[in-house]
Amino acid sequence: TVYENAELASRQVARRIAELIKKKQAHSEKTVLGLATGSTPIRMYAELVRLHREEGLNFRDVITFNLDEYYPMRPTAPQSYVTFMNEHLFDHIDIDPNNINIPNGTLAQEEIPAFCLAYERKIEELGGLDLQILGIGRTGHIGFNEPGSAPNSGTRLVTLDDLTRWDAARDFGGKENVPTKAITMGIGTIFKAREIILMAWNGKKAPIVKKAVEGEMSGEVPATYLQLSDNVEFILDQDAAADL
Ligand code: GLP
Repeated sequence: TVYENAELASRQVARRIAELIKKKQAHSEKTVLGLATGSTPIRMYAELVRLHREEGLNFRDVITFNLDEYYPMRPTAPQSYVTFMNEHLFDHIDIDPNNINIPNGTLAQEEIPAFCLAYERKIEELGGLDLQILGIGRTGHIGFNEPGSAPNSGTRLVTLDDLTRWDAARDFGGKENVPTKAITMGIGTIFKAREIILMAWNGKKAPIVKKAVEGEMSGEVPATYLQLSDNVEFILDQDAAADL
């Protein structure tokens, strides 16, 4: 779906999330959301905060799982995805902190496999993700599933692509300060969500959006695996959709 601009598109996605939460609340059910970071979802989170403040949307029975976190990463560091989520969403809504799940960037490396299995199991025990929100990196990554990721991959420690580290360089004051690794949900984890929304804005994303939607499916562009799913919607602004 192509919107005139990112603002309108973001509001629409936020409204859909709000509807999902309210529908589940009406049946006394919890909503399990998969969330993303990056510049793309910022306006969508702002709209969710507005809906909470002005229209009474509550997050008391919402459980969230973030896609990824840099490794190693202290949660209190300004570049951590914990800080990002607090600043853009969690500090401004009534979510129970116990219902927030973000990969732990402070573990010792040998603790990571067990942590990742537990992350997967926790999602499963809650009945799976109702909705997964995605952005897309210029390498075609979703979460931090870089080129070479398998379609059935689970949550795991990965090595970041060089281009991804260049794109993050500004946040870290230079590429050399960007962590070389991350913990990310896998493509298989993402695929199990009942609904997937990938958002992309601006012309810089147009070439990778074209590859993801129209390109041949390949591990070289992990987002092409989304072509396998019937439950995926790309929400784009006109500039990101320009090459389609
Ligand atoms: C990071 C995140 C991804 C995100 C991507 C795009 O790599 N791990 O989940 O999709 O950035 O970032 P942006 O939205 O800033 O373009």
